[in-house]
Amino acid sequence: MTVKKSELKTEWKTEWKTEISKASKDETIIRGYNLEELTNKLTFTETIFLTLKGELPTEQQTKMLNAIFVSSIDHGIEVSSVTVARCTMAAGNQFNSAVAAGIGTLGKYHGGAIEDCAKFLEQNINENIEKIVKQSIENKKRIGGFGHKIYTTDPRTQTLFEIAKQNNCFGKYCKLAENIELELEKQKGKKLCINIDGAIGALILDLGFDSTLANAFFIISRTVGICAHVHEEKTKEKLVRRLSESEYIGETGKKL
Ligand SMILES: CC(C)(COP(=O)(O)OP(=O)(O)OC[C@H]1O[C@@H](n2cnc3c(N)ncnc32)[C@H](O)[C@@H]1OP(=O)(O)O)[C@@H](O)C(=O)NCCC(=O)NCCS
Repeated sequence: MTVKKSELKTEWKTEWKTEISKASKDETIIRGYNLEELTNKLTFTETIFLTLKGELPTEQQTKMLNAIFVSSIDHGIEVSSVTVARCTMAAGNQFNSAVAAGIGTLGKYHGGAIEDCAKFLEQNINENIEKIVKQSIENKKRIGGFGHKIYTTDPRTQTLFEIAKQNNCFGKYCKLAENIELELEKQKGKKLCINIDGAIGALILDLGFDSTLANAFFIISRTVGICAHVHEEKTKEKLVRRLSESEYIGETGKKL
């Protein structure tokens, strides 16, 4: 039986719309600009700003965003995103699968607290700092972007905030983050520094980005570091990784 075109249901159809880009035979447009012109005239950082925000950055915003990318590009082999990526490569997977596995590990306690921090800052910009910190501690809720496994002062934050001050990008969210750090220390009796996630969370808000986009900045940057590690694993290491140290703590000698 042949079904006439007019008899086909059409409700399932969804419209695909985008304000980001369009590629055609004649031209590729990104946020309204011709891709060839962008390729000739813009840096990668400027083009990232444009693609994510829909507008061109000022010179100072470019310097700030570039610094954010450089500061989070890599942080050693020990972190979960790199060890997982390298293990995935060593097990004989594709390069892209290994990189994706590494990126997939980013979470609230490693590289993925930026959105939590940005949302917390956004929600509490007009609140009493003493009160919000007290509430978090009482509810046993860790404030995203504060504290670090090895740092009491995160040098990456210090550098980024200095660059922000030099480039007119240190705004009300960076100030709020600094005040929360001081209040946390007062109430917890120990320094829980603004870590790299917290610094980026505050900075991207002061740059005018949406908090729901916050984790993208770390992902963009750390992908480069992970690619370098995956390539090193692929070209310089033997196949297959096994834990060199582990301890069996289960029972032994059970009989069936
Ligand atoms: C990064 C992190 C996992 C380090 O944890 P850690 O090594 O266990 O932290 P510490 O040993 O320095 O501190 C533990 C104490 O500080 C508190 N604490 C740590 N980070 C806190 C935070 N961000 N907000 C509130 N309290 C926090 C803990 O609740 C704990 O309190 P307790 O001793 O009363 O139980 C932790 O600080 C955290 O979860 N931060 C929030 C998430 C984040 O920013 N992740 C990105 C890391 S780059």
